[in-house]
Amino acid sequence: MNIFITDGYDEMAETAVDILIDSIETNRFLKLGLPTGKTPEGVYKLLARAHKNCGVDFSKLTTFNLDEYVGLDINHPQSYNRFMKENLFSKINIPEKNYHLPNGCAKDLEEECLRYEKLIRESGGIDIQLLGIGGNGHIGFNEPSTCFSRGTHKVKLTKETIASNAEKFFDGDIDRVPKEAITMGIKSILDAKKIILIASGIEKAKVIEALVNKPITSRIPATILQRHANVILIIDKAAASLI
Ligand code: GLP
Repeated sequence: MNIFITDGYDEMAETAVDILIDSIETNRFLKLGLPTGKTPEGVYKLLARAHKNCGVDFSKLTTFNLDEYVGLDINHPQSYNRFMKENLFSKINIPEKNYHLPNGCAKDLEEECLRYEKLIRESGGIDIQLLGIGGNGHIGFNEPSTCFSRGTHKVKLTKETIASNAEKFFDGDIDRVPKEAITMGIKSILDAKKIILIASGIEKAKVIEALVNKPITSRIPATILQRHANVILIIDKAAASLI
């Protein structure tokens, strides 16, 4: 695991974006896996700026998002689909047919999970998977006790994740947060050729310490990243403070 420790959030985002832009300029047909959450917002802002100010070309890029809530329409203000459009896709020149998220409103969710997994596989697989991390060690929406061998599947969110997402995105109203989601599984994530995990702030310090130093355990799903040969952690000083 390569670890970059940055001064703060901004430098974390800049470091990740430098790698991403370099990779996109080397391979315009890059397949990129993307997270949602507060942490990647700075990354998306800088990617949008790189397009606007420096003409970075995203027209051949393909993206796959990690997850989507079950039951939120794609236009719902808190859907991950909407989040991605507002934060990134509407600000770069990626064609609509090139970005993908699971459909949390599909009639048959099991079938939707299979469709999504197949879509990723048939694209040739993800070259770089960008990840955030939940306070309980979840990646995507793979919550503690997840099974490491699964591809895209439906999950029940933990109370902790619901509370955390309520605070950040639903005005603190737990009742409005969907209780289920579709997420790429740990297997889908580990299939990526390279993984970049970003984290910022003291509230991520404990889980980052576990990710780096503790034995692999499904109780802290992100520890499985120790098994991947090409992982880069880009974390700020606060998130790195317990390593
Ligand atoms: C959500 C997402 C994850 C994300 C995590 C951390 O639950 N499903 O992909 O990494 O939250 O979010 P944040 O970056 O806001 O701390």
